[in-house]
Amino acid sequence: MDCETPLTQMNTNLLSLHDLSVHFAHGGGQTTVVDRVSLTLGAGEVLGIVGESGSGKSQLLFALMGLLASNGNATGHALFDGQDLLSLPTKALDRVRGASLSMIFQDPMTALNPYKRIGDQLAEGLIHHQGLPRAAALAEASRMLDRVRIPDAPRAARRYPHEFSGGMRQRVMIAMALLVKPKLLLADEPTTALDVTIQAQVLDLMLEIAHETGTAIILVTHDLGVVARICDRVAVLYGGRIMEEGPAETMLSDPRHPYARGLLATTPRLEAAITPRLPTIPGAPRSGGAMLPSCPFAPRCSDKMPACDHMPPLRDIGPERRLACHLEPAP
Ligand SMILES: Nc1ncnc2c1ncn2[C@@H]1O[C@H](COP(=O)(O)OP(=O)(O)OP(=O)(O)O)[C@@H](O)[C@H]1O
Ligand SMILES: [Mg+2]
Repeated sequence: MDCETPLTQMNTNLLSLHDLSVHFAHGGGQTTVVDRVSLTLGAGEVLGIVGESGSGKSQLLFALMGLLASNGNATGHALFDGQDLLSLPTKALDRVRGASLSMIFQDPMTALNPYKRIGDQLAEGLIHHQGLPRAAALAEASRMLDRVRIPDAPRAARRYPHEFSGGMRQRVMIAMALLVKPKLLLADEPTTALDVTIQAQVLDLMLEIAHETGTAIILVTHDLGVVARICDRVAVLYGGRIMEEGPAETMLSDPRHPYARGLLATTPRLEAAITPRLPTIPGAPRSGGAMLPSCPFAPRCSDKMPACDHMPPLRDIGPERRLACHLEPAP
């Protein structure tokens, strides 16, 4: 299927994904878990990605970071700051990851080295990528730990990850990811390990620091209240495909895709800090397998029609809004 946005036009954005797919090899076969995702992100913009468990949200971010499992591979293009992340040699990708692209992982322990003091782990990026002397880098690290409200930051910097609670480790991850002032932060459910009462506070802190440094964010979240509060735009993923995408405010108040409508059935109040996880939609989520030409949501869709045997392209349906559904005729 052709992508609607020409590559040349997308070059003006900070990030332009063009038919990005993620495949996993297994037992002689192949599963596609992210399927021809195309989207763009401007400098400083905050894009939310929502979709139920297994829809491919994390794998999409891992593909951008070059961190897919050994049986995975990504195809398509991911133009970031003028370079295609998917075809960069490892050394060049390392430079990008340390300097202008960083990620907060769903599970902070996977990203922290258990044998290294927190301060040293934070300082590493500044030493290697910005050439800061060790003492200055450690001072910066300590300042950032203080900024994310880790008590007694200079002492905390000398501790090891296992000496922190899950919530504190998540704050350390946020500090680490933002310390290098990246152009783009990939945040995969960055507050799930935190107590519900402080999730909003930590997210606000993350956003505040990102705004100061002009950092754009792709935020994977299950929390529609968070999307309403902090995202400029939102993309809804189902079965590895973008079903709908648009400005957060209009998407939440007027979703068009039957899946997005089910997902966003209860529009979160904009002032709400935290809302419950996504509502349940009848039927089972699509499980991985060979890619079918049909819409992956069709088996669960109450508006299914014969045309759904062919997945429609994601096309413009209004100002900044895109939809992949036969229900809505082209304007
Ligand atoms: N190494 C692998 N080999 C085969 N399939 C994999 C592999 N890693 C992940 N997958 C599959 O990729 C699909 C997408 O997974 P992903 O982790 O991106 O989901 P997600 O949308 O982030 O879900 P959640 O909300 O639960 O975090 C899942 O079906 C998962 O089982
Ligand atoms: Mg995930």
